[in-house]
Amino acid sequence: MTRGKKRRVVLLGSTGSIGVSTLKVAKNLRNEIEIVGLAACSNVAKLAEQALATGVQNVAIYDKSKEKELRALLPPSVKIHTGAEGLNALSELSEADVVLVAIVGTAGLQPALTAIEAGKDLAVASKEILVMAGEIITAKASEKGVRILPVDSEHNAIFQCLEGHRGPDREISRLILTASGGPFRETPAEDLWNVTLEMALKHPTWDMGPKITIDSATLFNKGLEMIEARWLFGIGMDRIEAIIHPQSIVHSMVEFIDGSVLAQLSRADMGFPIQYALTYPARLGGGLKPLDFTELSKLEFSPPRLEDFPALGLAREAGLTGGTLPAVFNAANEVAVENFRSGNIKFPHIWECVRHAMNDAVKTETPTLEQILEADKSARVSAGSFCRNPA
Ligand SMILES: NC(=O)c1ccc[n+]([C@@H]2O[C@H](COP(=O)([O-])OP(=O)(O)OC[C@H]3O[C@@H](n4cnc5c(N)ncnc54)[C@H](OP(=O)(O)O)[C@@H]3O)[C@@H](O)[C@H]2O)c1
Repeated sequence: MTRGKKRRVVLLGSTGSIGVSTLKVAKNLRNEIEIVGLAACSNVAKLAEQALATGVQNVAIYDKSKEKELRALLPPSVKIHTGAEGLNALSELSEADVVLVAIVGTAGLQPALTAIEAGKDLAVASKEILVMAGEIITAKASEKGVRILPVDSEHNAIFQCLEGHRGPDREISRLILTASGGPFRETPAEDLWNVTLEMALKHPTWDMGPKITIDSATLFNKGLEMIEARWLFGIGMDRIEAIIHPQSIVHSMVEFIDGSVLAQLSRADMGFPIQYALTYPARLGGGLKPLDFTELSKLEFSPPRLEDFPALGLAREAGLTGGTLPAVFNAANEVAVENFRSGNIKFPHIWECVRHAMNDAVKTETPTLEQILEADKSARVSAGSFCRNPA
């Protein structure tokens, strides 16, 4: 960022875990970051509270039935946008420099494209965007000359390690994404059938929204991140690896062709990647607590249990095949997680459901956005039918 100039941010998904952390970062850097728009799905009380605290003049609520309730909580000067159009309106707000998308699920895709189209930098937390439409998003961003700033801690770590290595001769050998391994890192395979929702929602190191917490337990989160990294950093899936690192201190690494490895370390606090994405290329003191190395007992690394946690293999297959398959992978996982949360399927069925939908899918190479959305829809039908009658 240019020193002395505030970065004006639209925050989509402000009421969620990333949204709340972003507002905290913005509050700590109030002279550098200004929030100019906020959007949520249906949580009007929290959205109104955030709007009053930040003083934004534009908010969006996806659920149109909540508009009246929201209106009653806000001064008349605040403009309320609704539905999918409302999210798009915020994405192209003239006063915004950057749009941070932290919406869980696929609803963030269109607003992300709108932001790029409007010439805004895009800060991406929602993995779904690049997993579903990485080729379209990255091509559009380079056409419009806007930046894609990764908010996910792993991608933000790689982004930091790549400083000075962004040109065509980047000398990268491989990207190594770290994964905590989730709560079942050491659970024997047969016991995974007894995993309850409560157990899956207890992440050992990160405090996050429910969907991503379950994805961390199945390792689908890491799978989604591998595909996301492929597009963010323009590197083949064959050079992207995942490694288990239970302490969540090393957030990811880049190995260069000379064998040297650069890693980014910090405490497990999403404030770090959010702040760097919003202040890039500047580093600012924002009140985040640095690591105390004397408190760290050890940093461990081990290979993932690929056979017991098939999500990484499925992700690699989806990423290598490309086309519409990553969208199928993502949509089927969303349906499976919902069904696991409703008690319709068991924990290992989540992997089986995604495998089923991927086998079932008609694969289209170099798809249009419409074809991607169609593949997403069909995958949901296929995954839904699996969940009604899991094998
Ligand atoms: N949490 C993390 O540490 C973390 C780290 C890296 C990446 N991510 C990614 O960031 C995204 C958000 O994760 P999260 O953990 O913050 O999720 P979360 O706590 O469940 O929050 C989800 C947010 O999305 C909003 N939302 C959902 N559907 C919407 C729609 N149709 N229109 C507008 N807003 C909508 C929700 O609004 P309501 O509150 O009104 O429902 C809420 O603000 C996910 O894609 C996740 O994979 C999260």
